[in-house]
Amino acid sequence: MRIGVFDSGVGGLTVLQALRRRMPEQDFVYVGDTARVPYGRKPREMVEQFAREIARFLVLQQVSGIVVACNTASAAALPQLASEIPVPVWGVIDPGVEAARRMSPSGRVGIIATAGTIRAGAYQRKLEALGMQVWARACPMFVHVVEEGLAESAEAELLARFYLADRPELEALVLACTHYPLLKNVLRRVLGPEVYLVDSAEVTAEAVGADLGAGTPDGPPSRPGTVVHYVTGDVVAYRHTAHVIGGVDGEIFSLLESTLCAA
Ligand code: DGL
Repeated sequence: MRIGVFDSGVGGLTVLQALRRRMPEQDFVYVGDTARVPYGRKPREMVEQFAREIARFLVLQQVSGIVVACNTASAAALPQLASEIPVPVWGVIDPGVEAARRMSPSGRVGIIATAGTIRAGAYQRKLEALGMQVWARACPMFVHVVEEGLAESAEAELLARFYLADRPELEALVLACTHYPLLKNVLRRVLGPEVYLVDSAEVTAEAVGADLGAGTPDGPPSRPGTVVHYVTGDVVAYRHTAHVIGGVDGEIFSLLESTLCAA
């Protein structure tokens, strides 16, 4: 059975890649809502509705489970979505919170994300409920920097220094946006080696793999899993932008917004 994965755009490909490394024989259906990206600046109710439409579309594709790869959508739509959809739904927040708890024994943790994710407060509430001291910062420009292929640039480093300037002493920093794993090198330069970076793509793939009882891959897959992509925006633009995230493997189909709204 195929697993559905969705995001506002290309960013969720970081999660898809981590899932495919963890479960190389698994087939996936990926939806990138590129006509309506970015979610990070949109009202919560709107993002929740987008997430609901995409999840229903994926159910019609007969997926056996859905990974909400987008942090903004996870923050806006979970756990409501999980209660409405008839297949298991995984978000990126719980795995990120759990990793932050493990990697920060003193409880001094930071979170960087889109404005929507920070405003929704889901990460902060869960981390604080574990007794952690949370510093949170919206970094809206990072998404654009990554999509422009500038993740390793001096400009990205300048921006990271600006966003992180007033951070307290941290033990771990949660990269709570699909695009941020690509900024790891820059963030490491700014933060130094002592702050642990929680990559929500990796920890989500670990959590989904564990729930599905997938063993740790130990060699090439007997039959490599496939991916089919559906995008609401332009297919050529998707392929082009996806290049900076590591490219797209598999067929890409156009998905009309009207089809989503009717799902
Ligand atoms: N994929 C989004 C997230 O992880 C970032 C891009 C957007 O703003 O839509 O929050």
